[in-house]
Amino acid sequence: MNYEDKTALPAHIGFIMDGNGRWATNRGLPRNKGHEAGAAAMQRIVEYCYNIGIKHITFYGFSTENWSRPKTEVNAIMNIITTFLNRMIEKFNSGTGMYRRTNVNFIGDLSVFNPVQKSLMKTISDRSRTIRGDMTLNIAINYGGRAEIVNAVNAFINKNPGKTLSENDISGLIYTAGQPDPDLIIRTAGEMRLSNFLLWQSAYAELYSTQTYWPDFDEKDLDAAIENYLGRTRKFGNISEEK
Ligand code: IPE
Ligand code: IPE
Ligand code: MG
Repeated sequence: MNYEDKTALPAHIGFIMDGNGRWATNRGLPRNKGHEAGAAAMQRIVEYCYNIGIKHITFYGFSTENWSRPKTEVNAIMNIITTFLNRMIEKFNSGTGMYRRTNVNFIGDLSVFNPVQKSLMKTISDRSRTIRGDMTLNIAINYGGRAEIVNAVNAFINKNPGKTLSENDISGLIYTAGQPDPDLIIRTAGEMRLSNFLLWQSAYAELYSTQTYWPDFDEKDLDAAIENYLGRTRKFGNISEEK
């Protein structure tokens, strides 16, 4: 869709990419095929968001709780993440693409990743710090919303022993500091929960759930979510005329 009024668009969209496993199982495929198809879907949606003018996007790729899955599935996801990071660097190097105008941020506890993954993430985030991007892409891996808040509080206490902290202090110390909170959070596969995603930031996010499994989520599905968002009345605790 060609969105004429860019100012009405959500400034920040969060994606809880769910249903990869069910997508694969329904096709008689192993679950890792669903994760591969999910990574491809993410690629398409990142590009579409850039093209329609969304300024901040966050994708939930792997939660702190996802380590409890069978080792074979976790290993498959880790390999897919490595491939994804390598592709991203190729895209950065390819010259003209939108990736050269995208600031990429990895959010989560990155300390657990292997040295190859860490170095790929560092290459990408270092490079994207040198550009003035049109869009910020946050990739949440080994991410947990509660851990993010705890880390922010601990960082504050360490720097300011004995002081009382404010909401602004926390907002300034979380992974998305300096970015607008998500206006819209989309979850696929029919689930209606946050599963520890952007807990602090989602205080006033509009939630949208679709039955579509993430690997099938495409440009038309995102248009439908945005259309739905544009029709909502945001009140932030105030009173206002219904549309
Ligand atoms: C989301 O798809 C991807 C991750 C959580 C890594 P799932 O793997 O949760 O898919 P379902 O929910 O089992 O269908
Ligand atoms: C949330 O999906 C995490 C990601 C999308 C990465 P899950 O499939 O892990 O969430 P639950 O377990 O159904 O709540
Ligand atoms: Mg799931």
